[in-house]
Amino acid sequence: MFFKLFTIFFFFLSLFSQSLKFSSQILDFTYNGFLDAQANISTQGIATITPNGLLKLTNLTATKTGHAFYPKPIRFKDSPNGTVSSFSTTFVFAIHSEIWKVSAHGMTFVVAPNPGFPFSGPSQYIGLFNTTNDGNNTNHVFAVEFDTIMNSDFNDTNSNHVGIDINSMKSVNSSAAGYWDEKDQFKNLTLYNSTRMQVWVDYDDRTHQIDVTLAPFRNDKPTKPLVSIVRDLSSVLLQDMFLGFSAATGTNILTEHFVLGWSFKVKGKAPPLDFSKLPILPVWDVKPMRVYVFYKKWMPLIALLLIPLLFIISFIFLVRFIVRRRRKFAEELEDWEIEFKKNRLRFKDLYYATKGFKDKNLLGSGGFGKVYRGFMPVTEKEIAVKRVSNESRQGLKEFVAEIVSIGQMSHRNIVPLLGYCRRRDELLLVYDYMPNGSLDKYLYDSPKVTLDWKQRFKVIKDVASGLFYLHEEWEQVVIHRDVKASNVLLDADLNGRLGDFGLSQLCDHGSNPQTTHIVGTWGYLAPDHLRTGRPTTGTDVFAFGVLLLEVACGRRPIEVHKDSGERVLLVDWVFGFWVEGNILNGKDPNLGSEYNEKEVEMVLKLGLLCSHSDPQVRPTMRQVLHYLRGDAMLPDFSPSDLRGSESMSGKYHGFSESSTFTHGSSISHSILSSGR
Ligand SMILES: Nc1ncnc2c1ncn2[C@@H]1O[C@H](COP(=O)(O)OP(=O)(O)OP(=O)(O)O)[C@@H](O)[C@H]1O
Ligand SMILES: *[C@@H]1O[C@H](CO)[C@@H](O)[C@H](O)[C@H]1NC(C)=O
Ligand SMILES: *[C@@H]1O[C@H](CO)[C@@H](O)[C@H](O)[C@H]1NC(C)=O
Ligand SMILES: *[C@@H]1O[C@H](CO)[C@@H](O)[C@H](O)[C@H]1NC(C)=O
Ligand SMILES: *[C@@H]1O[C@H](CO)[C@@H](O)[C@H](O)[C@H]1NC(C)=O
Ligand SMILES: *[C@@H]1O[C@H](CO)[C@@H](O)[C@H](O)[C@H]1NC(C)=O
Ligand SMILES: *[C@@H]1O[C@H](CO)[C@@H](O)[C@H](O)[C@H]1NC(C)=O
Ligand SMILES: *[C@@H]1O[C@H](CO)[C@@H](O)[C@H](O)[C@H]1NC(C)=O
Ligand SMILES: *[C@@H]1O[C@H](CO)[C@@H](O)[C@H](O)[C@H]1NC(C)=O
Ligand SMILES: *[C@@H]1O[C@H](CO)[C@@H](O)[C@H](O)[C@H]1NC(C)=O
Ligand SMILES: [Mg+2]
Repeated sequence: MFFKLFTIFFFFLSLFSQSLKFSSQILDFTYNGFLDAQANISTQGIATITPNGLLKLTNLTATKTGHAFYPKPIRFKDSPNGTVSSFSTTFVFAIHSEIWKVSAHGMTFVVAPNPGFPFSGPSQYIGLFNTTNDGNNTNHVFAVEFDTIMNSDFNDTNSNHVGIDINSMKSVNSSAAGYWDEKDQFKNLTLYNSTRMQVWVDYDDRTHQIDVTLAPFRNDKPTKPLVSIVRDLSSVLLQDMFLGFSAATGTNILTEHFVLGWSFKVKGKAPPLDFSKLPILPVWDVKPMRVYVFYKKWMPLIALLLIPLLFIISFIFLVRFIVRRRRKFAEELEDWEIEFKKNRLRFKDLYYATKGFKDKNLLGSGGFGKVYRGFMPVTEKEIAVKRVSNESRQGLKEFVAEIVSIGQMSHRNIVPLLGYCRRRDELLLVYDYMPNGSLDKYLYDSPKVTLDWKQRFKVIKDVASGLFYLHEEWEQVVIHRDVKASNVLLDADLNGRLGDFGLSQLCDHGSNPQTTHIVGTWGYLAPDHLRTGRPTTGTDVFAFGVLLLEVACGRRPIEVHKDSGERVLLVDWVFGFWVEGNILNGKDPNLGSEYNEKEVEMVLKLGLLCSHSDPQVRPTMRQVLHYLRGDAMLPDFSPSDLRGSESMSGKYHGFSESSTFTHGSSISHSILSSGR
């Protein structure tokens, strides 16, 4: 009897202790929002609890995982080798995608042996597994995935599905997201469209049936589950397990995962959630969504219209570019030019040679136009291009003919003409580039570099022989018309070469005798030239005489006195010294002492003789050359011999006062422009 009582007592005691033991074990919990739970829910990775109580598993950070676990283990089995008890859970969640209607990676509800997945991968592994342990039975993981990306490695059927996962990302059963309504109709749901949805997961320990049911928020639990499978979880789950959520982000499009409320119960039905207590979701800007929808809808059409339009526009631009280029470099060859084809150069080549007639390449400008330096890549030759604007176009043909014929002359003291190019109202003359520039730069305005007497005398002889060639040695008599220091160019070896011959002709060709323009440069113009308006070899000799005086004196043909403004003719000035008794006083002080007095004196006297106002008195170039070379002696003459004709006293040439002129500069231009 006592024994009986004793056993009964012990039975109750053991029952009591059993119940005590159970009461220490958590059997259920409920979260209506997670605010109070900040102390008792553990978040890992980028998971956080927002200030208003949302469990935010991920934010918009690429390739990251977020986990949240109930911090205490749940006892799923009464004994270590026992069977898994029935359990039930429900929760409300939402997935927001950065781009409206475009899905990325999803989230899971998970039962795991540890409250964390430190080695799990982001993206398609949703923070559960990694490449090495995916599918391994030692994982002891049960999960329900809300997968919003299709991954064929895991046999996913679409990018919006719910699956039951055991130890692997490959679901044991899955279904497109949705639910069965009262009328047994299947309704699709989009997991990632930022709306709230409720999930129920139930396990029955007798039938081993696992049911996953999904429904829109505030809907009753559908009677028919979305996915189910019959599987005894006893081999999967251990006695004590941790419950939680896992989510991950990928690289391109990012998603945010939220849990609003959650309840769980072992051996029973999960307590219902109090919807009124659930936190609210952030309000997402709908505008980008609308914009996105708009683009998605209209993009194909816009693209369809825009692409051909862009194509047409770029085509038009291309055509315009080509046409403009064509026009810019159009070669206008007139009939009469055909015979000069050989000497014609392409404008395009000259354009590129002078880098588009850039100011950087400007060598200087004179009465007819600007001179540019250039480089011909084919012949590797440096050139000087003279751009002459020829608005009248009168006599152009004759002029070109002459230029070309003269260009065929080859004499070592003449700047070679390489060719010409005519384009609309422009004439381009191409010469060899003379590296040492023009003689004038070495003579006046306190030059940086000057030439010694030997060099000067050489240049004078060079010019004389060039001019002699033009006058007498060439098939026809060619009058230079513009002999002056700036038209004497010095080549690399400081040989003097005459340039710019015949150019002045362009301006008076075709004009009748009454309106003949006189072209040349003041100070170099012979009085007879002014009187008759006709250039002769004699007028060239006159200009050469002035050049001789310039070279010997280092002065301009006409110098203007700084203070009085009085114009002094070089010829008069030298003549004055001669009358005073020593013509050598007129020599250039820059010559120093290294000079031949006889030669300087001879050059000065010859200069005066050549620039005598009476053409009859002037020697020919042949004679001049003899004197300079020393083949003949300059006849002995005195100042009074020269004074014989006209007004030799004071005003040697007798025109300086009556004509209005600007000193020293090329007057051809001013005369020309007033004459046109
Ligand atoms: N072939 C050349 N090589 C190097 N420099 C040159 C060449 N031709 C001309 N130049 C430079 O270009 C400058 C301008 O020459 P341009 O012939 O246009 O003027 P100008 O000789 O002063 O007057 P004009 O128009 O009466 O000839 C010259 O002063 C000279 O320095
Ligand atoms: C955890 O949070 C829930 C919900 O707020 C609360 O009921 C429960 O008492 C908390 N448990 C602990 C151990 O803090
Ligand atoms: C995401 O959360 C992590 C951890 O809380 C934080 O460091 C990060 O700045 C957050 N990123 C964004 C884009 O909010
Ligand atoms: C549980 O099962 C394992 C082997 O499956 C065995 O070794 C162990 O003794 C069992 N424990 C109990 C309490 O039955
Ligand atoms: C995968 O996870 C396991 C632990 O679950 C870890 O031992 C392993 O190193 C991980 N592998 C990689 C590649 O991270
Ligand atoms: C599963 O994981 C365990 C422990 O991590 C390991 O020993 C075993 O080799 C793995 N099995 C397979 C098939 O990879
Ligand atoms: C994945 O699907 C293919 C074809 O449907 C099938 O052959 C394969 O067995 C499946 N793999 C798993 C793990 O379900
Ligand atoms: C529901 O989703 C499935 C699978 O994604 C699709 O085939 C079906 O057309 C959808 N039904 C409706 C009504 O949108
Ligand atoms: C999201 O989808 C549900 C049904 O799939 C629909 O009722 C709801 O209006 C959608 N949300 C938005 C913001 O369009
Ligand atoms: C997968 O779930 C569906 C829906 O509950 C069910 O009809 C089907 O039989 C399940 N498949 C397996 C293999 O259990
Ligand atoms: Mg010139």
